[in-house]
Amino acid sequence: MKFKSIKGTKDVLPDESYRWQFVEQKIRSVMHTFSYHEIRTPVFEETALFARGIGELTDIVGKEMYTFQDRGGTMLTLKPEMTAAVMRSYLQHNLGEQKPLVKVYYIAPMFRQEKPQAGRLRQFHQFGAEAIGGSSPFVDAEIIALSAEVYRVLGVKNFQIKINSVGCINCRPQYKEILKKHLQNVFKELSEESKQRLEQNPLRILDSKDENDQKLTTDAPLMKDHLCKECSEHFIELQSILRSLNIEFEIDGRIVRGLDYYTKTAYEIISKDLGAQDALVGGGRYDLLLKEIGGKQTPSVGFAAGIERLLLTMEKQQIFTGENIKPKVFIVSADEEGRGYAVEQAMILRRNNIPCEVDLLGRSLKSQMREADRQKVEFVIIIGGNELQKGLVIIKNMKNGIQTSIGVKDLVSHFQEPGENIETRENR
Ligand code: HAM
Repeated sequence: MKFKSIKGTKDVLPDESYRWQFVEQKIRSVMHTFSYHEIRTPVFEETALFARGIGELTDIVGKEMYTFQDRGGTMLTLKPEMTAAVMRSYLQHNLGEQKPLVKVYYIAPMFRQEKPQAGRLRQFHQFGAEAIGGSSPFVDAEIIALSAEVYRVLGVKNFQIKINSVGCINCRPQYKEILKKHLQNVFKELSEESKQRLEQNPLRILDSKDENDQKLTTDAPLMKDHLCKECSEHFIELQSILRSLNIEFEIDGRIVRGLDYYTKTAYEIISKDLGAQDALVGGGRYDLLLKEIGGKQTPSVGFAAGIERLLLTMEKQQIFTGENIKPKVFIVSADEEGRGYAVEQAMILRRNNIPCEVDLLGRSLKSQMREADRQKVEFVIIIGGNELQKGLVIIKNMKNGIQTSIGVKDLVSHFQEPGENIETRENR
């Protein structure tokens, strides 16, 4: 029987994992400069948390969750997103009591049973941040700035920030009625999916991927033009803060997001270098989510971004994503006697923080040298023969081929001395 990875999941292989480590390290560093602390939550939660938090009528809850019953009969779900999980954790551990504004970030795998395609997986990875406890548009602006900063720092080009306001419980119901009335005129021509959405979730019709739906809704009324005073002021202030921070954005009244918890700000960052799945980032304000899952109303805003899509974009734009680790030194043994000795010396170098590789397969001197070459090490240490009997080893500089011999006991200091140029030393 031949096992294969599950459809829509991917292995990150040893020759590409460094790219992940590179972007993850940059993400962490940007998060830390904005004073966000990492939060890690379990990979599964009670199903009800997501059903309530994300919304029963959303695609995620309705058709995409990996849900199962455990042996104790509890319904569990692999997390399809982090926001509800973060809010559960915030509530459970009273994080709000320690600080008025709790700022957290995460890098974690998510699970959604979507139809796999380029940039759309069933297990994918998100980085994201949530700022919990602030109602000011300055918090929305910080979240937008933070997400965009990651792309700027990584050198990603051609991304667009699109912002919108999806209103609140005061203005959205009235707008929904206006929108429904408008869509009633074209109901018969709408796609089946949009027809189903008309009653319960008409806003989602505005971001339908169906071309005909898009045509039919070109002159549909938009939420941003029907905001209450509070939402409207919030939206205008957010725009002026973003301008003051020199963050370019455009207003897109069709950004409605696929999760139900949003209030006021909703935004996306899009890359033109991605295909149909062009959203790098999705986020916004969700002032009612905590209340929805049993806490007290707590204004919050956040974003999440797909790491696979980030890497795809970087690949398309030929952006440097680091280098795989390689040993500085390869120790080869010239004969049988040298073998054990080589392994011991490797251990000593490693303990002294000198990245080092040694042959464990009993290969011939020639094939050990070939391996050292393949691994592109800077230096080879050759151990064995007469030299070893005299307490010496040979060091070969792989760039210029120069060989020198030094005392075994000097090996660590030879590779370690700070500021010492090894070539200078060899030529001395
Ligand atoms: P989302 O829009 O569902 O929002 O996902 C955010 C990002 O995750 C997307 O823009 C995309 O880059 C990536 N993503 C989503 N689904 C997939 C998939 N199947 N394959 C690959 N990448 C994917 C959320 O998850 C919200 N929790 C964002 C948020 C945080 N809102 C407030 N705080």
